[in-house]
Amino acid sequence: MDPFLSESLHIKRVPVTRLPESQACPRMEDLISREPRDLGRAVCIITGASKGYGRALAFQLSCRLKPRSVLVLVARTKAQLNELKDDIVSVCGRSQLDVRCVQADLEEAGGVEKTVQAVKETSSTETDHVLLINNAASLGDVSRFAVSFTDPAEVNRYLSLNVSGALSLTAGVLQAFPHRLGLRRTVVNISSLCALKPFPSWVLYCTGKAARDMMFRVLAEEEPDVRVLSYAPGPLDTDMQLQARRFSGDLNLRRSFSSMFSEHQLLTCEESGSKLVKLLLDNDFPSGAHLDFYEL
Ligand SMILES: NC(=O)c1ccc[n+]([C@@H]2O[C@H](COP(=O)([O-])OP(=O)(O)OC[C@H]3O[C@@H](n4cnc5c(N)ncnc54)[C@H](OP(=O)(O)O)[C@@H]3O)[C@@H](O)[C@H]2O)c1
Repeated sequence: MDPFLSESLHIKRVPVTRLPESQACPRMEDLISREPRDLGRAVCIITGASKGYGRALAFQLSCRLKPRSVLVLVARTKAQLNELKDDIVSVCGRSQLDVRCVQADLEEAGGVEKTVQAVKETSSTETDHVLLINNAASLGDVSRFAVSFTDPAEVNRYLSLNVSGALSLTAGVLQAFPHRLGLRRTVVNISSLCALKPFPSWVLYCTGKAARDMMFRVLAEEEPDVRVLSYAPGPLDTDMQLQARRFSGDLNLRRSFSSMFSEHQLLTCEESGSKLVKLLLDNDFPSGAHLDFYEL
């Protein structure tokens, strides 16, 4: 792998031992920790929960919510959401956790409205924590370079999910749960190294992630009682990574992603998710901060 790229992608240049298959994908039961800390009686909303990182986070967070919390799972693919709901309920129990699925396209205003409406329906005076995980995102067309994006409609479509959707959903959720004594409000932006570093042929993705980070920094300035975190989860073994190594227009980048995969340097979603869960439990990050898996 190109040493510069491996460094800029924050990849540790030591061989990572691959876990045996049985450990690489922990069983649901194994994801339940016996550690007593929790995230309160929460309404927890996770976008992009149907697969990849969002799905893993849904499991990890569900174990940290107090009984009678509500978990709202959002994505376009209903079947995968329902399957996830059944899996979580079979571990946590229906009486412990109210899991709701919202099939919504967050690229569309209607999808954001539908999600906000579903969140409003969870409202209860007993809720002591609202936790929104803005995880849904797309890679965009990474096969082309910046000078090929002459069509503003194409760029706007990309920003619509990755920037506008995240802002308007966050605003809607915070309005649905306004400041009240005893209510903790936390907003997480799933970010990326790409928010800070430019990568050739990734103009849409880098732009979207950089814009989101700034958006959430502004939110942190404006709303001191809201805990805001941009978390860069590291390179994850998901469908998005598959797209990255197959389609990146920049040859060096494509090779780097391929060798990260073949050299087993990708993280599991659970590994990365554990650090995020710990950050949320510790709750001592500076609001608005961008924190990276490799720096924690
Ligand atoms: N994978 C990595 O190496 C990596 C590295 C750094 C940061 N990240 C970030 O981590 C997050 C999760 O990535 P991932 O790798 O898990 O991606 P992924 O496997 O592609 O999953 C993306 C999720 O977003 C949902 N989604 C996509 N478009 C949507 C839309 N229009 N409306 C609603 N939901 C939509 C997808 O569900 P449906 O298709 O069912 O809608 C899916 O659940 C993203 O924010 C990504 O930028 C990933």
